[in-house]
Amino acid sequence: MRCVVANWKMNLLYADASNFCTEFAKHYTPAEDVRVAIAPPTVLLWTIHSQLRERGITTFAQNGHFEPKGAFTGELSMAQIRDAGCSGVILGHSERRQMFGETNEALVKKVHAAQERKLLPLLCIGETMAEREREQTFSVLQTQLSVLKGASRGPIWVAYEPVWAIGTGRTADTYQIGEAHAFIREELRVILGEQGGSVPILYGGSVAPQNFEQILSVPEVAGGLVGGASLDPMAFAQMVKIAQS
Ligand code: PGA
Repeated sequence: MRCVVANWKMNLLYADASNFCTEFAKHYTPAEDVRVAIAPPTVLLWTIHSQLRERGITTFAQNGHFEPKGAFTGELSMAQIRDAGCSGVILGHSERRQMFGETNEALVKKVHAAQERKLLPLLCIGETMAEREREQTFSVLQTQLSVLKGASRGPIWVAYEPVWAIGTGRTADTYQIGEAHAFIREELRVILGEQGGSVPILYGGSVAPQNFEQILSVPEVAGGLVGGASLDPMAFAQMVKIAQS
């Protein structure tokens, strides 16, 4: 199975999202073994869900809180995310870690809360350039993956996103991707046992139609988490096609 996930971050308005759905639908043919999800800003979740669910496209939230309800102004519970039609939630994106103080401790609870509500957690991990230069890539990945210890046996996806490749137009090279994904696979096996062998590991960081085929050819790469290039319906449809071929 391959997975292609669009992460729209804080981009697009209602009219853009609606236009995206119309354009994307024209160029998209579902294929059984390729899962396609879009993670729009929260206010656009219903737009995407209502317009694309019949085409088999699922929606993911970009974040969620671990508490089931209460006085947490500005947050969304996993139950609310599920209620808005989502089947998954992106957790631990580096922008949330770096700009909003998301910690591995909070992520342990978020993974648990998502799974309890039958939402698929897409856990993002990745090193900064400074960490790579200090040769800490593997230890950073190991710590970030450790939040999955104690996760239940429900489905989980992981995205390897080197922070220095996000939004920079600079992808990791195939050697770097292969090495990281092989390491992540081994760690997942240690943490999750047999299930760890089949968790899809996506790559993210400046994925685009021009480089996606090459990235997908790397062993243990099951798909892409796409930011900037996913805002264009034609480019996103092209990447889905690449994953299907
Ligand atoms: P990018 O973002 O494709 O714009 O680099 C990827 C991501 O942050 O998930």
